Amino acid sequence: MKIQIEANAMSEPVTYRPNDQTVRLTPRAGRAGTDHDRGVPEIDLLSPLTIRSVSFRNRIAMSPMCEYSAQDGFANDWHLVHLGSRAVGGAALIMVEATAVTAQGRISPGDLGIWKDEHIEMLARIAKFVDSQGAVAGIQLAHAGRKASCDLAWKGGARLKWPEEGGWPVVGPSPVPFDEADPVPIPLDEAGLDGVVDAFEAGARRALQAGFKVLEIHAAHGYLLHEFLSPISNHRNDQYGGSLENRMRLLLRTAERLRGLMPEELPLFVRISATDWVEGGWDIEQSVELARHLKRLGVDLIDVSSGGMVPCARIPVAKGYQVPFARRIREEVEIRTGAVGLITEPRHADEIITGGDANLVFIAREMLREPYWALKAQQALGQDSAWPIQYGYAVKRRAK
Ligand SMILES: Cc1cc2nc3c(=O)[nH]c(=O)nc-3n(C[C@H](O)[C@H](O)[C@H](O)COP(=O)(O)O)c2cc1C
Repeated sequence: MKIQIEANAMSEPVTYRPNDQTVRLTPRAGRAGTDHDRGVPEIDLLSPLTIRSVSFRNRIAMSPMCEYSAQDGFANDWHLVHLGSRAVGGAALIMVEATAVTAQGRISPGDLGIWKDEHIEMLARIAKFVDSQGAVAGIQLAHAGRKASCDLAWKGGARLKWPEEGGWPVVGPSPVPFDEADPVPIPLDEAGLDGVVDAFEAGARRALQAGFKVLEIHAAHGYLLHEFLSPISNHRNDQYGGSLENRMRLLLRTAERLRGLMPEELPLFVRISATDWVEGGWDIEQSVELARHLKRLGVDLIDVSSGGMVPCARIPVAKGYQVPFARRIREEVEIRTGAVGLITEPRHADEIITGGDANLVFIAREMLREPYWALKAQQALGQDSAWPIQYGYAVKRRAK
C-alpha cells in the first residue's frame, strides 16, 4: 500500500500501584479529571482525561498503525508485543490498527480482522495486557473499500488485481477507481450497504467481547466510509450520493448502530480526513457539519486526520499541519477532538493540549521509533515518569 500520510488528582505520593504495575514517586497534584476541559488552564498533556466512564492517565494516544502482520485476520505475538510495548511505554490509549470488519475490507492480506468469532481470543489477550499496564485498549474498525486488495507495504503495496496474485474484488460507492490503473470498484447496492453496517456492528460486538474500551470508526484516508463522504469517489444519485446529507448517510448509520449497541460508559471515536486537499473534494466545512451530526448521535471524539482520497493531492505536510482542523472542529462543534500528524516533540504535544487545539494527541511514527515516548515526554515535561516497576533500576529519580 502507498501509506497515506496520509485522574488522577492524588496528593499523596505512592510507590506502587499493583493494578497497573507502575512506580510513581511524586504524582502531580491538583489535576482535575474534568471531562470537557476547555477553559481549564492547568490542563496539559499529562493531565488525566475522563470520557464517559473511561479514564485516560494522560492525553497521549498511540495512533492506529497497520502492521500487515496478520494471517487471515488473526492477531499474533507481534501485535501483542508491538501494542503491549507502547502500553508499557506510558501512552494512555493504545489504538489497535485498522481492523477489517470483512475479509473483503482488508487493505492487504496482512491486515487484522474481526469478521469472525475466532478472532476474539488473541485480541482479548492484547486488550487484557494493555489494560494491565494502566492504558486503555481501543480498536479501529475499518473497511478499505476501493483501496482494498493491496500487497504488503514492504513489498511495494501494489494493487493485487487478480485472484492468482492473492487479490479480491473491491467495492465502493461508485465505479471510480482510486488511481487510473486500479481495479474499478463494484458499487454497493442497498443490500451491500446494509451488509457493511451489519459487519461494523458485528465487529463492534466482538471488539467489546474482547475487552476493548474505546471503539473508533475509520472514516478517513480514502477508505470506504470516506469514499461515501467525498464527491470525488461518490458519484451516486440515490440516497447515498449527491447532497452532503446523502453522502454522510452511511457513516451516520454506522455510528448510530455502534452507539446503540455500546454500553453507555464506553466512548466511541470517529477518525475522519478533515479535507481531501483537492478542489471540489471533501473539506473542513463539510467535516464541521459531519462532526455536528456525529456529536448528536453520541460520538465522543473526532480523531482529525486528512488526505488519502486521491493519489496525488498536494498536501502542505509540516509539523502539526492537521492540528488547525482539530481546533476548528472542537471550537465550532464543541466536541472533543484528537490531533494527529507530525507531532513528535513532547513540548509541541503539550502546547496542543494547553492551547486548546485538541483533547488528545495521537502519535504514530514517532512511537514506532520510540515505544517509551510517553514516559520520556513525562521526563521532558518535568514529571517523574511512571516507568514499570520492573525497570525501576534503570530510572533516574529527580532530586527532591
Ligand atoms: C505504518 C503506518 C500504518 C498506518 N496505519 C493506519 C491505520 O491503520 N489507521 C489509520 O487511521 N491511520 C494509519 N496510519 C496513519 C497514522 O495513524 C497517522 O495518522 C499518520 O502516520 C500521521 O501521524 P505521524 O506523523 O505521527 O506518523 C498509519 C501510518 C503508518 C506510518
